[in-house]
Amino acid sequence: MIKKFLDLGYQPLANAYIDKKKLNYKEKKFKLEVGFNKKNYLVSILKTVSKEKMFNKDYPYKSSESNTMQKSFRDLANKLKKRFKPKFIIEIGSNDGAFIKNFKKKNVVGVEPCKNLAQITKRKKYTIYSEYWSQKLSKKITKFKKADLIYSANTLSHIENIDEIFKAVNNALSKKGILIIEDPSLLKCLQNVAYDQFYCEHIYVFSTLALREVLKKFKLEIFDIETTKTHGGSNRYFIKKVENNFYKINKRVKNEIKKELKFGLNKYTTYKKFEKKVKISKQKLLNIFSRLVKKKLTIVGYGATAKSCTVLNYCNIGNKSINYFYDTTSYKINKYLPGSRILIKKYQKLDPKEVDVAYLGAWNFKEEIFKKEKAFIKKGGKFITHVPYPKII
Ligand code: TYD
Repeated sequence: MIKKFLDLGYQPLANAYIDKKKLNYKEKKFKLEVGFNKKNYLVSILKTVSKEKMFNKDYPYKSSESNTMQKSFRDLANKLKKRFKPKFIIEIGSNDGAFIKNFKKKNVVGVEPCKNLAQITKRKKYTIYSEYWSQKLSKKITKFKKADLIYSANTLSHIENIDEIFKAVNNALSKKGILIIEDPSLLKCLQNVAYDQFYCEHIYVFSTLALREVLKKFKLEIFDIETTKTHGGSNRYFIKKVENNFYKINKRVKNEIKKELKFGLNKYTTYKKFEKKVKISKQKLLNIFSRLVKKKLTIVGYGATAKSCTVLNYCNIGNKSINYFYDTTSYKINKYLPGSRILIKKYQKLDPKEVDVAYLGAWNFKEEIFKKEKAFIKKGGKFITHVPYPKII
């Protein structure tokens, strides 16, 4: 039923940054292939890695390290308080607390299996369950009161067992309760040829179409949808129990589905076209790098993202092309990118005396980065991006 449409080669774990001491060890790699389920339109990677290998005490991603993310969580929390007035909130994948810190401690509970991240919020006296989201956990959390709001950003697409997720959500929601999930949009991913949305942790890249199909089984439905710029284009889905008549289904849901159908997200041929575009994108990016390397220009990477792991390994770009990466995340500094083994240095403003071109690993923060690097750009500094097609800016 699931038909493969894209082969991104052998890839290491995208967030497994390598310590200098471990550079002599060979990394485990897995075949990254992406498929389309004709029955429910779900797009998923074909071979998954166990969750314990990916989400553990060494997980490097912290939401609070990005100003853009902090602000967007704050704005969203304020909007949700006004629109839904939730009294009891659960966040699945609360990371280091960037969302829940906008609520009163007594009103909110976080679920975060990565112990290093859970610890940060626990220290601030929030209630955090350092476990994976499951039916058992949802029953434990909602033993005395059900949730009015369950929020989960960039987490559900990481969980292989969809049945377990939504059964647990069903257990936990009050009658009027709603689930809001936010994940990269498949439509945007295809439109932008952002094939780097596919890596080990992104088991699914959701479309509205697919999510609607999946939710039917659990008597859940989407009643509203918002598009956001997060992670290069995401959808925020507002979901309720079918029996909950408290909220009407907004026109935006139908419109989004119309857009997705027009693009052909329900057809396998669309995904094969995408595959062709990905191959062209690889070739163009390699041409750019080879041109710049021949000119002996100094190229660095900007933002050692999980996404860039897919690009670098698929295109076989290593430290002969990119001297080093700059990144602001403390955990990543002085480590090496998985697979490509490019050194990650502590972020410094780009200096045109040292850097000629910067490859935008964090292309999803292009606006924020271009603002920060105004001086570099003014003095002729350039960036390379592969989204929506490889080019020098
Ligand atoms: P993220 O957007 O989470 O992408 P992914 O999910 O693919 O890992 O990661 C952004 C990375 O970019 C993170 O490591 C921080 C880094 N970064 C910078 O180094 N400088 C910046 O100005 C910004 C915005 C991000």
